[in-house]
Amino acid sequence: MPSITPAMTPERAREIAAGLDLRALPADFYANPYPVYAALRETQPVRQMPDGSYFLTRHADLVAVYRDAQAFSSDKKVEFTPKYGAASALLEHHTTSLVFNDPPLHTRVRKLIMGALTRRAISAMEPGLIMLVEGLLDGIEAKGGGDLIEDFASAIPVEVIGNLLGVPHADREPLRAWSLAILGALEPKLTPEQEALGNRSVTEFLGYLRGLVAERRQVPLDPEHDVLTRLIEGENGEQLSEVELLQNCIFILNAGHETTTNLIGNALVALEEWPAQKAWLLERLGPRPDWDALEPLLTVAVDEFLRFESSNQLGNRRAVRACEVGGVALPEGALVTLCIAAANRDPAQFSTPDVLDLARVNNRHLAFGFGIHQCAGLSLARLEGRVAIGRFLARFPRYRLTEAPTRGGRARFRGFLKAPFSVA
Ligand code: HEM
Repeated sequence: MPSITPAMTPERAREIAAGLDLRALPADFYANPYPVYAALRETQPVRQMPDGSYFLTRHADLVAVYRDAQAFSSDKKVEFTPKYGAASALLEHHTTSLVFNDPPLHTRVRKLIMGALTRRAISAMEPGLIMLVEGLLDGIEAKGGGDLIEDFASAIPVEVIGNLLGVPHADREPLRAWSLAILGALEPKLTPEQEALGNRSVTEFLGYLRGLVAERRQVPLDPEHDVLTRLIEGENGEQLSEVELLQNCIFILNAGHETTTNLIGNALVALEEWPAQKAWLLERLGPRPDWDALEPLLTVAVDEFLRFESSNQLGNRRAVRACEVGGVALPEGALVTLCIAAANRDPAQFSTPDVLDLARVNNRHLAFGFGIHQCAGLSLARLEGRVAIGRFLARFPRYRLTEAPTRGGRARFRGFLKAPFSVA
């Protein structure tokens, strides 16, 4: 089987780094972007790109930007209006979701979501999640294998997020395709087909959600657990407008999909490349895992998978005033790309950053971002990762890929489209 993550010579990494343009990335970059990010971090950690934006690769610089939400705005109206067109469905969606807004809209929506994602609410999801995962593993066992992404990794988040918003099971089928198309439209370069598909997906998704929201208004569920009921009811007399409500539901449904699929898929593929780490983990699981006792160890392992192959590799901010980052002066209006994937391999922050170390301590990775926009679903994502990866390994300790997996080929969301495997 060809190597999953092919090596890249330092010369080639420097060559790509020197001409890096996110709108035109070469195939070997997608296969292994880390040597390119290392070259940038070493030579130009705050690098001005051909389109005038700035590309940041040092951990400390990303933290500084994330921390200063007043100087570095998440509001994307300036960037996205020319990208999607003033009257487009994609523009309305992406500029209304909390992640691409500053306070006060951001604060209002986030508070409502977080109220339904408490520790207690997440613990309550665990038994259903375990049943779901074990059921998927039964299906795989019966077939003797399958596809890590199609049959396992992608099948989990769609159910979890569907439950979170109370989407009836029969309606869940189109969610993944809508989500892939809408988030796919965030890539630095878009084809007209991708743009059209993104717009169509927002419109179809909105059409579906209008019906669901109307039903939920008539028959509300328990707001302690149902995010949709919570968003509809609001808090302290503050309610979201209809557009804010619908667009943020789309965002929540999307945010937890591809990212979590990629966490699970990337982890199970990475273990093929790191057999000693796989053996280490299997030894700890033992023949009859005590899942409660294993929780801390698996949480550490999940965070290392997130650091090592971050599912969301890039973030963006806009400097609302002139400021300085990493010793470089940025003008007012500067667009900044935060390279999470590079920061998570920064040797100034992590020892042996290019090594997968499932027992890593002090793992201050930025896979969930940092600051006021830090992932609202991180506890849920960690739970899904722990249950899915732990139980998969325990059931199929000898699983192996039967052909080279197919990468998604995106700079922002890193993951696989296909990864065929057999269980023995
Ligand atoms: C491994 C899985 C996940 C990863 C790697 C991930 C990553 C991220 C990152 C990097 C951000 C910050 C974006 C920024 O600052 O610009 C974010 C925000 C967010 N994520 Fe996640 N996410 C994951 C799973 C989830 C799940 C399961 C949910 C479902 C509830 C979710 C909901 C959100 C929300 C609502 C925000 C916006 C928070 C805000 O703007 O205040 N995420 N996520």
